[in-house]
Amino acid sequence: MPLIELDRVTYTYPEGDRPVLRDLSLSLEGGGCLILRGDNGSGKTTLFRVLNGLAFPEKGTYRFDGETIDRAYLSDSRRARAFHKRIGYLFQNPDTMLFNGRVFDEAAFGPRQMGLPEEEVRARTEDCLKLFGIADLSDKAPYHLSGGQKKRVALAAVLTLNPDVLILDEPLAGLDKKGRDLLTDFLVSWREAGKTLIAATHEESLADLLAGRVLTLT
Ligand SMILES: Nc1ncnc2c1ncn2[C@@H]1O[C@H](COP(=O)(O)OP(=O)(O)OP(=O)(O)O)[C@@H](O)[C@H]1O
Ligand SMILES: [Mg+2]
Repeated sequence: MPLIELDRVTYTYPEGDRPVLRDLSLSLEGGGCLILRGDNGSGKTTLFRVLNGLAFPEKGTYRFDGETIDRAYLSDSRRARAFHKRIGYLFQNPDTMLFNGRVFDEAAFGPRQMGLPEEEVRARTEDCLKLFGIADLSDKAPYHLSGGQKKRVALAAVLTLNPDVLILDEPLAGLDKKGRDLLTDFLVSWREAGKTLIAATHEESLADLLAGRVLTLT
């Protein structure tokens, strides 16, 4: 059974006059890698919103691990929590993801919400901050960081949840050389660990390196 399956999904924004996604089908096995391509405005971010249960198809179905993900399914808060814990979603604009007063608390937010013991929360958080080279920013306010630093914090906050699937919207955009290298190495090891990855990127080199299936939206 595929982990992620869209069956002829159509989605139109409430304000929109025509569908952004039309009859889109795709299927991805656990451990697979899908690279999303397409021009600005082709619907990559919209597709990610559907995959994360933030927007619901008006036609067609979205199944995650065999469950149909729709409004009714996610209205059960226990199921919604379990679903969101399994998918780590890095927004295209990480600003909208940051709401804690300290970088450390931002990255620790997910595992704390899950009710993990504080010792485990601290271990995971420190690991993830180190992974993206931002351990020294622990006490800073995310709000006052640079764009690339914010992106690193948002990535750390996604990974402390230890998700099964990573969905990354333009992960390299705004990162400096060192940040790009850190993230690229991490994504290669993520793939090697047999974890599932979906990334939208305009960068050919990342798509080549990850050697995933490519889906081009038009
Ligand atoms: N909140 C919204 N309300 C109405 N229309 C929207 C909304 N967000 C996006 N759109 C429209 O949906 C279409 C697809 O946008 P989307 O953000 O999914 O594209 P994208 O492929 O991610 O583009 P980019 O490469 O610029 O990130 C665009 O025409 C956009 O104008
Ligand atoms: Mg986008």
